[in-house]
Amino acid sequence: MRGLSKRVKTMKPSSTVAVNAKALELRRQGVDLIAMTAGEPDFDTPQFVKDAAARAMAAGKTKYAPPAGIPELREAISAKFKRENGLEIPPDQTVVTVGGKQALFNLFQAILDPGDEVIVIGPYWVSYPEMARFAEGVPVEVNTGPESGFIPDPAEVEHKITPRTKAIVLNSPGNPTGAVYPKEVLIAIAELANKHDLYIVSDEIYEHLIYEGEHFSPAHVAPDRTITINGAAKAYAMTGWRIGYAGGPKDVVKGIVDVSSQSTTSPDTIAQWAMVEALNNVEEAQKFISMAREAYRARRSIIVDGLNALGLPTPQVNGAFYVLSDVSKIDPDENQAALKLLNEARVAVVPGTDFAAPHHVRFSYATSEVNIRKALERIASIL
Ligand SMILES: Cc1ncc(COP(=O)(O)O)c(C=O)c1O
Repeated sequence: MRGLSKRVKTMKPSSTVAVNAKALELRRQGVDLIAMTAGEPDFDTPQFVKDAAARAMAAGKTKYAPPAGIPELREAISAKFKRENGLEIPPDQTVVTVGGKQALFNLFQAILDPGDEVIVIGPYWVSYPEMARFAEGVPVEVNTGPESGFIPDPAEVEHKITPRTKAIVLNSPGNPTGAVYPKEVLIAIAELANKHDLYIVSDEIYEHLIYEGEHFSPAHVAPDRTITINGAAKAYAMTGWRIGYAGGPKDVVKGIVDVSSQSTTSPDTIAQWAMVEALNNVEEAQKFISMAREAYRARRSIIVDGLNALGLPTPQVNGAFYVLSDVSKIDPDENQAALKLLNEARVAVVPGTDFAAPHHVRFSYATSEVNIRKALERIASIL
């Protein structure tokens, strides 16, 4: 047997997906487990979106779609960029993908040559460095810590720029930190891209989940070199529908489309029609988003206060539905701490190792207040 490719053999499977699968499996076996692993809203997809999918199916909109996405959705995305972000991105500079994940994956395939460097700001979402490596790029880390609320210093970002740097990845609000970068920081980093001729990859998938402060798109500062990534999953509780999208320079968008055309062809046609409704039915969408945001806001206070009260330092952050908690008190090795939480407290979390967050674990608070309180009680009992 000649075996697998080097590319696949060296790829780390997503640790967040793996740990969540383990939690779900334990639960299937009857273990009473509180899973705080998933990057997934616990709300159901809103009914008005499901209805649109049912209408699309009934109308026979069940065939292949163009690789860039159905024109109606590209128009809705362009209108969304204008309405919610103040960005002028025409439909032909947008592309619909199989989740935000595919937009990012294809993007790295489209812009990276072997050895090209991509700056990622840690603690980062596990997939950025792996996707960059899969495209034969080299991830270069800038680290942030709890002292700064996980906000990067633009001077440190500039310090990491070399002649091989091709792109800087920004993710505000961020996974796994929950940090919302101040506008000045986003502007300063986007200006670095202008100064050094780099791409900005702006992953804005958590933009609607901000509890204090405002969202800002770096594409305002670097419109010709920013690729803005977004999707249905987090804002509309549509993780399983697998719809993401990107907007940016024409040639880069064409690169993303070309990779899709030779791999997935297009995202699911029915889900695309559902997404048209999610974006265009602004009133219903806003109602849903506000409801979810207020629920997350309340849960954030419970978990941040609760973990700090237990002596597990956890900075108050302003976005997404994650907190990174310093679990040295349980075990200085975050993998051991996560194992203890799983085996003794029956609370599943993601160890910070693959996020570049040593001594920390990530709690997702996209679960009910009852579960969060129960998890805190269980953690207290093992401390
Ligand atoms: C930071 C970030 N970007 C992108 C995604 C991809 O989301 P999806 O592919 O479900 O749209 C996720 C999902 O967890 C994420 O956390």
